[in-house]
Amino acid sequence: MSEQQAVSVAQPEPHKVVVVNGPNLGRLGVREPEIYGHATLETLREKCTAWGAQLGLDVEVRQSDDEAEVIHWMHQAVDEQTDIVLNPAAFTHYSYGLADAAAQVTDEGLTLVEVHISNPASRESFRRHSVISPVATGTITGFGFNGYHLALEAIAARGKNVR
Ligand code: DQA
Repeated sequence: MSEQQAVSVAQPEPHKVVVVNGPNLGRLGVREPEIYGHATLETLREKCTAWGAQLGLDVEVRQSDDEAEVIHWMHQAVDEQTDIVLNPAAFTHYSYGLADAAAQVTDEGLTLVEVHISNPASRESFRRHSVISPVATGTITGFGFNGYHLALEAIAARGKNVR
């Protein structure tokens, strides 16, 4: 092939992961720092993006207090074939709507890792039940922000759509 000929080398699609944080997690840093630490959502965003880059993942971090928006992001994950790290925050304990949406992600063969910064099992009794865990690929709790790193490692090790 001469040097003038265009060479097109197919690039693999980036492995996209959306990190979704539910209600009140925009208040990280000021909300109960004895439980959630002093670092902010912005720090979490920077860490997740950097961890993702090390793992070859294209990571986007989102946060919403709005259940409908979080549910919409699950639908979008199915349509766009993206894996999910989900800290459902208080939705964990009662949102069947979010559980149904999360189930669509894992039914699709995508990976959805449920993450909690604290260990909800060691706290008030209402936090001991998760409606998300039964439909998640797996759950990581109690390791602070590092739980998101562990979740991204699990996703990178599992690979893209495993169906
Ligand atoms: C949390 C635990 C939930 O019980 C709580 O409602 C949150 C945060 C955690 O990351 O430890 O908002 O999901």
